[in-house]
Amino acid sequence: MRLQGNKILITGATSGIGEALLDKFLSLDNHIIAVGRNAKKLDELTKRDERIIPFPCDLSKNEELKILASFIEERHPDTNILINNAGIQLNYPIIKGAEQLNNIDLEIAVNLTAPIKLTTLLLPILERNENSAIVTISSGLALVPKKQAPVYCGTKAGIHIFSKSLRFQLEHAKTKVFEIIPPLVDTHMTAGRGKNKLSPEALVEEFIRAFGKDNYEVSISKVKLLKIINRLWPAMADRIMKDGG
Ligand SMILES: NC(=O)c1ccc[n+]([C@@H]2O[C@H](COP(=O)([O-])OP(=O)(O)OC[C@H]3O[C@@H](n4cnc5c(N)ncnc54)[C@H](OP(=O)(O)O)[C@@H]3O)[C@@H](O)[C@H]2O)c1
Repeated sequence: MRLQGNKILITGATSGIGEALLDKFLSLDNHIIAVGRNAKKLDELTKRDERIIPFPCDLSKNEELKILASFIEERHPDTNILINNAGIQLNYPIIKGAEQLNNIDLEIAVNLTAPIKLTTLLLPILERNENSAIVTISSGLALVPKKQAPVYCGTKAGIHIFSKSLRFQLEHAKTKVFEIIPPLVDTHMTAGRGKNKLSPEALVEEFIRAFGKDNYEVSISKVKLLKIINRLWPAMADRIMKDGG
């Protein structure tokens, strides 16, 4: 991948990993379409750099996804990279039954359905441009789950397999499919939990090196070791991750 001169749509660009991706890609001289719900934070980002194009959007809503896709088609048809980063993690006990249905709908909509739908809506536009790519963010929890968040882990396993299958389907297309598999990262999502968290900036540095070399499935930091342990000693991997942060 060429790392400069792109127009990149980043979902969840207002915080954490998305904001670190935004900062890095700006430093490499790219234009960014920044998507999030927080209009105030989007405004602040825009004041930071004129190459940021803000777009407020609740990705869990079909109508808003379609409005976003029309905006790209009409105003930014030169968008060539989509980074499906936005995500939420709601830790709740499934055993509480029906009261969890809204949490389940929201978590699946934001983490799994929205990236799949946005990919589907924007792929024809990406395909018309050079140096085009889709990037998804799964998690080490997609490979080995923890007990506090079965639905979150399920959505990330879904994104992991979706990314791999889409890469097969696009084998002869122009658009490349990348997946970032992060360990625990120090962001708003993980506030108050876990230890020895990676900084979003360190994650982004590792990803950018892999992105530039067309390394499609990018296991970040400790996830490389997790994959080895899971292959050789899966019961040990389960023990390590089960009570994870
Ligand atoms: N942090 C970790 O340890 C970790 C590990 C593995 C994977 N990940 C994944 O990395 C991605 C980024 O997470 P993060 O840690 O950077 O979390 P974060 O700091 O909480 O940021 C989440 C971003 O998602 C956006 N978002 C949430 N719901 C949305 C919605 N309905 N519509 C539009 N945007 C929405 C938020 O923007 P608004 O508030 O403006 O809507 C925010 O910008 C997620 O997919 C997460 O699952 C994180």
